[in-house]
Amino acid sequence: MPPILIPFPYADQTYLDHSGTTLYAESLLTTISADLRENLYGNPHSENPSSKLSASKVTAVRLQVLALFKADPAKYDVVFCANTTAGVKLVADAFAGHEQEGEGGKGKGNFKYRFHKDCHTSLIGPRGMTGSAECFWGDEEVEAWLDSPEEDEEGEEGRLGLFAWPGQSNFSGRRLPIHAWASKLRETRGGRFYSLFDAAALVMTSPLDLSDADASPDFIVCSFYKMFGYPDLGALIVRRESAGVLQHRRYFGGGTVGQLMASVDHVKRLYHKDPHEHLEDGTCAFHSIIALGHAIDTHKRLYGSFEKISAHTASLVAVLAGMLGELTHRSTGQKLVETYTEGKYGDPKQQGPVVTFNLRDSCGEPISYLAVEAAASARNIHVRSGGHCNPGGVQHYCRLGKEKMMTFYNSGKTCGDEQDVIDGRHIGALRASLGAMSTLEDVVTFVDFMREEYVSKPLSLEEKRRFLLQEREKDVEEVKRVMKKYGTVLSGSRTGKTLLCFWTDPVNLDEALPMDARLASNSLASLKDFFTGGRNLADLLKLFTLTYWAFFSFLLGRTNTYGFFIWIFFILCFVLFSFFGAGQTTSHSDTPVTRTDADWLIFYEEMTR
Ligand SMILES: Cc1ncc(COP(=O)(O)O)c(C=O)c1O
Repeated sequence: MPPILIPFPYADQTYLDHSGTTLYAESLLTTISADLRENLYGNPHSENPSSKLSASKVTAVRLQVLALFKADPAKYDVVFCANTTAGVKLVADAFAGHEQEGEGGKGKGNFKYRFHKDCHTSLIGPRGMTGSAECFWGDEEVEAWLDSPEEDEEGEEGRLGLFAWPGQSNFSGRRLPIHAWASKLRETRGGRFYSLFDAAALVMTSPLDLSDADASPDFIVCSFYKMFGYPDLGALIVRRESAGVLQHRRYFGGGTVGQLMASVDHVKRLYHKDPHEHLEDGTCAFHSIIALGHAIDTHKRLYGSFEKISAHTASLVAVLAGMLGELTHRSTGQKLVETYTEGKYGDPKQQGPVVTFNLRDSCGEPISYLAVEAAASARNIHVRSGGHCNPGGVQHYCRLGKEKMMTFYNSGKTCGDEQDVIDGRHIGALRASLGAMSTLEDVVTFVDFMREEYVSKPLSLEEKRRFLLQEREKDVEEVKRVMKKYGTVLSGSRTGKTLLCFWTDPVNLDEALPMDARLASNSLASLKDFFTGGRNLADLLKLFTLTYWAFFSFLLGRTNTYGFFIWIFFILCFVLFSFFGAGQTTSHSDTPVTRTDADWLIFYEEMTR
């Protein structure tokens, strides 16, 4: 598929936070402002022409939204609200308003709430409105639950339940089943348990097909700013057949009551055939809804369809994940990037266009994700870091047990604070997410930034110290092994790594050096000095041979005709001793090397170039 090149007003920016919100097109802004300039839109709750104009536009946009999701208007209705969270709150409030049996006896707020661990914070929130909530720690737990309809406890017959899950994890980008779970729930617990499907992250880059209402969720929530960049608006899409359960909301507001007295506690709700009539409190965001109509049209004109966007972003994310996976520290071979997902990049059924990851330095130590985000921002690269309002994702992918998390919380860790690495563990991650208008250039710019900043860059002093320390620890073992083998004979290969064993530290490496390593290398050095007087063994042999050769050739060459042969004999001795001595030098008897500051840096620069 050819890259989609659209004139956006962000040419110098590399935007990789589409999971936060995607980008609005310039032409969308022009269209909306022209419409608002040319038309008089009044409050849709009146009967005057400007009001009627607004009302008819709002109705048209409701239908546009349903068409976007292939939902039949006879089966589904759209309730406009501020965002996904507001849609979730509407549903939870309605469930909590039911008077029913529960663990604490008869009362409101006794509904059963079940949710998947991949849920965004907004979907964990309903837990606060019920006394009975449970988190499923993974798909298998959900499926086991769906396959085994629980028996009602005594007195709980008909107690309402709500099961919530996201179409795509906003942490990892992994995609979850939709119709399989919705229809299974209806099959096994129909009439009592309802499905609340969070489509917020999924529908940014994926089609959602609600054409088979019997196999689709009861309640679907999404945020349009995430899909189109503008306007800031969300929706709760309600399956009409399930809408009755939403009639017990505790709150009432303008437009949703039939009778109300201010002086007496008397209220009678209005229930229309269209759920949005009694679920939209106050005046709907009609200007934004009108803008949404333009956003849907503009998006379609620019990108064709969500099927095309899905294919485009799936191929791009495979490239991004592949390139990030190849970034490796030259000095140690340690991978720079650790990615978090169980989905397969490039397969839109399993994975959205999101790469969530953390970085590790050349020694495998965690790199602060806040620092990475700041460094990226300095280059106009927009990525997001933190817990992404997804505590299940953080716990699962950062491999933090419940107890560990509690320890961090008890010691003062809060969401969005400055603590991103505690006890050598990441408490969140970086997220690069793609959208319809992302290009290969965005991907390459980002990967180049990572390479330049974290791979090609010379190691920091701290990293060097840690690297040396690690190598020295390895060398202690090597020295011990060789000492055992050769008794007191020295060892040392000519590879850079082993040489480190004998380096002195221009930045006070002694401090960092473990005691036994220092002792080992010092004792080896002094032992050798004792035998050689600080000179190389081969040099001594050569010196010895040369002295004798000079002496005898002087004596014999002058007085005896056999002097020539004796001279040849000593030459041979010299060659043999030199050869033997040189062999010893490389295999057993390195002199401790004292490196200068400059040598040390040159070595590292070579290794990290
Ligand atoms: C999967 C998911 N659910 C819910 C939300 C909350 O959306 P909003 O803040 O628009 O209510 C988000 C926001 O990022 C999300 O990604």
